[in-house]
Amino acid sequence: METPCPLSAKYEGSFAYYTVKDRLSQILTKVIDTIHRNKNKFLEAHGEEGIEAEKKALSFFSKLRNEMQTDKPILPLTDQQPDTQIWNQYLDYQRTLLSDGEEPSWFTSPWLYVECYLYRRIHEGLLLSPPISEFDVFRDVKNESFFQSQPAMLSLCAHLQELKGKMNRLSKDEVRGEIYKLLQVSLWGNKCDLSISGGQDNSQKSSILSSLEDYKAFILVDDMNSLWNILSKNRDGNTESRTRVDIVLDNAGFELITDFVLADAMLSLNLATEVHFHGKVMPWYVSDTTKHDFDWTVRQCLAINNRWMSKCGQAWKENLKKERWVYHEHLFWTLPHEYCTMAEVAPDLYTELQKSDLVLFKGDLNYRKLTGDRKWDFTVPFSQALRSFHPAPLCSIRTLKADVQVGLEAGVGERLAATEIDWLTSGKYGVIQFSPVV
Ligand code: F6P
Ligand code: MG
Repeated sequence: METPCPLSAKYEGSFAYYTVKDRLSQILTKVIDTIHRNKNKFLEAHGEEGIEAEKKALSFFSKLRNEMQTDKPILPLTDQQPDTQIWNQYLDYQRTLLSDGEEPSWFTSPWLYVECYLYRRIHEGLLLSPPISEFDVFRDVKNESFFQSQPAMLSLCAHLQELKGKMNRLSKDEVRGEIYKLLQVSLWGNKCDLSISGGQDNSQKSSILSSLEDYKAFILVDDMNSLWNILSKNRDGNTESRTRVDIVLDNAGFELITDFVLADAMLSLNLATEVHFHGKVMPWYVSDTTKHDFDWTVRQCLAINNRWMSKCGQAWKENLKKERWVYHEHLFWTLPHEYCTMAEVAPDLYTELQKSDLVLFKGDLNYRKLTGDRKWDFTVPFSQALRSFHPAPLCSIRTLKADVQVGLEAGVGERLAATEIDWLTSGKYGVIQFSPVV
């Protein structure tokens, strides 16, 4: 099969069309409201200069919303950041795909590109409005969502501590059962993103652990056995051997806690010796994890008045100090590129991932970038849709929130489509989908 074309808002009625038309405007309107609401904060911190910056940012974002809503051409970035040129070169590349006289635009270009571009333009709007350039417009909603999910987090942390208390008495099968549980928790934690909900509260209200059996029917691809084959090698092998797992993070809040719990369990159960996390260098898709969110979350857990959660916080701080947990940043994760171009665009990152025994890609956006956000047939093998992207054995852990899905058994996609019109985008279904190095 030839590589199919990318999803785009040019297909009227598609999820991409609806996203660009409604959801992205909604998000931008929330950004405008947030800036406005923080006026006094800017005044207190920076005096009149803060107010001037607020006005500048507001006018930038209103103009941006108008550009998007009226399908104006995509404009080059005007800031001076390490990624500015890469973005502008990508715009040039998009031009080469069009006929003479046509310009890339919000409703005609690939959805993945324009959606990423929106977040980069939000960043640009703030960068060009000093002294409020560092302001994270999504921080309040991220923090709120963290606090809203606290009961679910507490029960998860209690579960982890209980597991750690009995880990020496567990048989190999029991260890496998436990890690499968936490992989599923991390999967369903991906329901809680604030981009699909247009910035509205989407936090986890109840404990996921007790619902895992009921949710199993919604896992369309379950490759947990392949993950176990890699992870159990460390446990079986000699104590000198090292197993590195990388987690390409998605959302802060409840999902990040599920990832921390999984990462902690992998170390504690001797399935991995080091876990490397990859986060975003700028606020991204509303709820994605930045370095600030990562550190803030560990600090919150530590400080909380709950012994299970603060115990987790202590262990996680210790893991970071001892470098059993390592946090990485790379600007490639906030570029619009499909991952099959990583080796060329960000060879250093590709080389870093090659050091891993297993790379876990969390969330929907990562899946879109892994597969190029294209109109693949549902039955195309995952490793084929990855094209040349095979740095290490990898696995996508993702709930379906965009209409791209590969690697299904024949007939599954058609059967679901016949009964549930939004099965690809509702977040009800999930995959734990593995690809070896091919
Ligand atoms: O807004 C589009 C989108 O990419 C959806 O496909 C998805 O719902 C969301 O943004 C990001 O999801 P995730 O946080 O799982 O990457
Ligand atoms: Mg996200």
